[in-house]
Amino acid sequence: MKKFFILTFGCQMNVYDSALMEYLLEKDGSVKANSVNDADVIILNTCAVREHAVNRVLSRLEDIKGLKRKKSGLRIGVTGCIPQHLKEKLIKEKPFIDFLLGPDNLRKIVSCANGEDGIFVKLIGTPIYSELSPARGNFPEAFVSVMRGCNNFCSYCVVPYTRGRERHRSIGDVLKEVKKLSNEGYKRVIFLGQNVNDYNDNGRGLPYLLSRAAKLEGIERIGFLTSHPAYFPFEVIKVMKNEPKVEKFLHLPLQSGNSKILKLMKRGYTKEEYLKIIDAVRNEIDDITLSTDIIVGFPGETDRDFMDTIKMIEMIGFNSAYMFKYSPRRYTLANTFINNIDEKIKKERLNELIRIQSDITREKSEAYREKILDVLVTGKNEKNLLESNGITVYNKNIIVKERLEKGKMVKVKIDEVKGWTPIGTPVKERVSRGEKSEEQNGVTV
Ligand code: 5AD
Ligand code: SF4
Repeated sequence: MKKFFILTFGCQMNVYDSALMEYLLEKDGSVKANSVNDADVIILNTCAVREHAVNRVLSRLEDIKGLKRKKSGLRIGVTGCIPQHLKEKLIKEKPFIDFLLGPDNLRKIVSCANGEDGIFVKLIGTPIYSELSPARGNFPEAFVSVMRGCNNFCSYCVVPYTRGRERHRSIGDVLKEVKKLSNEGYKRVIFLGQNVNDYNDNGRGLPYLLSRAAKLEGIERIGFLTSHPAYFPFEVIKVMKNEPKVEKFLHLPLQSGNSKILKLMKRGYTKEEYLKIIDAVRNEIDDITLSTDIIVGFPGETDRDFMDTIKMIEMIGFNSAYMFKYSPRRYTLANTFINNIDEKIKKERLNELIRIQSDITREKSEAYREKILDVLVTGKNEKNLLESNGITVYNKNIIVKERLEKGKMVKVKIDEVKGWTPIGTPVKERVSRGEKSEEQNGVTV
């Protein structure tokens, strides 16, 4: 029996795509290996969004190259965004790779694992994989992709070139996958799309999909990623507010707090328009968890422009933020811009932003003290096996000071906050589904 090992890099969509490949390989009779050393087929499912991500994969490939010398017949494949974006580089610099598959060619994983060599990177304009339901994740949580690709062409971003145009799965296929997960005992699903609030199946959009999924037995939590500020449908806010199972969490990438830079980024909104969404969301759900993505050092970003980003971050007070230095990508419009920012300045800006956001994140976490929260137990705390990890409906990770079964729902009283992590003790009554908890009644985080 063939054994495979998948190393996943990059975003949640790649985590989902790795699950797809795992599903296809297992259906073909292969089994998961325990490590790369134990595998007959090693697959690196990769990300090309920044140079740093590419370099990580290239150096990992060098480590793996040695295994090929030791084990004859070992197959090495690279899948996802790097083969789509940089296939020539891989072919030239890493000739020991047996096969390359772009994100639209993952069905080929079965024949490639079985010995077919080749480069398959054709982008396909029609829905693909829609009817496949890998229905697997990190129990009791799983991602469910509802669409693939992106039509936005933000000027810095490689995704439309690596993942192709937007294609949406049917509501039926998505719900079938959620049902399959709930039958297997999964408790939390996160709907994925590069532009998830644009989801549409014959006029039925994300609000409809969330409401339908919330009716399914067994599933306790439903989240969604990533929303785009240029197309944010306000009905989503109502669903988040009114459906107890829908997470009160919005990931809304700002990218920059300066409208001139946003225009150069081709984001399709101004700083004021972004703030309007935040106001609308907080008007309805005042304690919602907000997170964002920020790029510093975009070409032409002056100190003043960067200060606008800092001001926005301080004004809005995101619960968390993913922060990046701008990384020029081949094919993108911004790659042709000439006024690039010095690496040293990018680094300084990033450090300053991280410093400011860390204080905000810590402050927001402190607000959890003494609260009583509904918590989904997600696993054991690796640092202390007598404790468990859990997550709230506000998408806040917490530690529970008791060893509990994965997938269990418990009420927890927060006793202390260490760094960014609230730590608490279970309070004895069990949470019944749909009950409005104290958390939902107005904790400010
Ligand atoms: N450089 C730096 N960050 C980028 N992102 C996308 N493209 C780039 C790039 N070229 C960031 C954006 C996006 C997140 C997934 O990655 O912030 O929201
Ligand atoms: Fe990239 Fe913009 Fe599409 Fe997001 S919306 S994947 S940043 S092009």
